[in-house]
Amino acid sequence: MAVKKIQEAELQNKKVLLRADFNVAVESGKVKEKFKIEAVKETLGYLLEKKCKVALASHFGRPEGKINPEFSLGQIKDDVESILGVKIVFIEDCISEKVGKALDNLNDGEVLLLENVRFYPGEEQNDEKFAKELAENFEVFINDAFSVSHRDQASVTGITKFLPSYAGFWLQKEIKEMKKIKNDFKKPAVAIIGGAKIETKLPVIKFFEEKYDNVLVGGKIANEALDQKIQFSSKVILPVDFIDDRLDIGPKTLENFNSIIGQAETIVWNGPTGKFEEEKYAFSTNEILKEILKSHAYVVVGGGETIEALEKNEAVDKISFVSTGGGAMLEYLSGNKMPGIDALAN
Ligand code: 3PG
Repeated sequence: MAVKKIQEAELQNKKVLLRADFNVAVESGKVKEKFKIEAVKETLGYLLEKKCKVALASHFGRPEGKINPEFSLGQIKDDVESILGVKIVFIEDCISEKVGKALDNLNDGEVLLLENVRFYPGEEQNDEKFAKELAENFEVFINDAFSVSHRDQASVTGITKFLPSYAGFWLQKEIKEMKKIKNDFKKPAVAIIGGAKIETKLPVIKFFEEKYDNVLVGGKIANEALDQKIQFSSKVILPVDFIDDRLDIGPKTLENFNSIIGQAETIVWNGPTGKFEEEKYAFSTNEILKEILKSHAYVVVGGGETIEALEKNEAVDKISFVSTGGGAMLEYLSGNKMPGIDALAN
């Protein structure tokens, strides 16, 4: 299925709503995942060149349809400004004529940042009235947020009923890369799957078990798979030893994982192999990253904590492709519906 692309859109001087994903981890008031914000840079630059009036829309956390300052996008305004390198004007709403006025008042080169779309219950319910209100102040909608395109929500799908809608450059790139690792990869191909919640990761393990040469499973899901005695073929490799109370994989497992990684031509990695947030148990994740950086394989990495590992080790630029999608990447590779992409079908 092909999507309508931003390159096909009539954009000169238009009012554009750009759906980004600024649902980023914040620590002591500072954005930890710059990468997810940087993703819209190319699309934003293109729109500004076309003299568009642009508003950035995003969700932030899960405020459950209520206004809650803890989840205000206002708190990351300064970081968004420095990461994107444009002057940002923040407005404490995402609908109503206030947005229209703020858009009209933007000076050249300025960009509007709307308040969290999830402050309205209509966002997650994909309420048609809310989607229409979101659309009201704009002429074109661009989705550049692959990482939220597995959600059927007003600012992702509902809005496309009311505005000509296109995929931004980042979304196009993500789709191309996902297709590549799904259908057009070099062998030997290895997937490394870690993190938590085996129920959510099983479909993707199954997918790679069918297509790839090996699936290396670490992190909490490895413990869950062992405890639940889940049966896999010999392609799926579970840990044979651990550190402490199974908080990280042990040296034998790590050695085996790294020797398989060392021979791969394609590597897909989603999820840390230990309790990464505690320095002591980040060991295997960091060692796997070192092995990956030594390899000449085509490498695709996704998932919040895995990207955090990359950012901590200043490795984002050394990976063939880093996906913004955690949940979205898993959904896509599991063959599940991606409503945000389907809504842009040609
Ligand atoms: C993410 O961070 O993975 C996306 O922004 C989706 O967020 P959600 O799981 O709250 O819908």
